[in-house]
Amino acid sequence: MAWTSVATLDELPAGRLLEVEHRGELYAVCNFDGEIRATSGRCPHHGGPLGQGALDGALITCPWHMWQFDSATGACAFNPDLRIPVYSVRVESGEILVDLPHA
Ligand code: FES
Repeated sequence: MAWTSVATLDELPAGRLLEVEHRGELYAVCNFDGEIRATSGRCPHHGGPLGQGALDGALITCPWHMWQFDSATGACAFNPDLRIPVYSVRVESGEILVDLPHA
């Protein structure tokens, strides 16, 4: 794991969801009410690109078949036993840093 710059705060205003690719892996980064959150960008259903989906409140909706995941915990909205990975985030000087596994 290593802190990796993925975007600037200017690129991610409140309510926005962003897809980030880093070393061949996709991540979804969102701004829920001023809190930046980062999850895996691959849906566990059929691999849909979560970062290209929608942010509905705190929930990320997959664009392919509409499964939803909590952006804070990674839990699937209809099956909490199913989770996507979530990653630590910090913001420094307007830069969003995520502790990614493939640095
Ligand atoms: S691939 Fe995400 S809901 Fe089917």
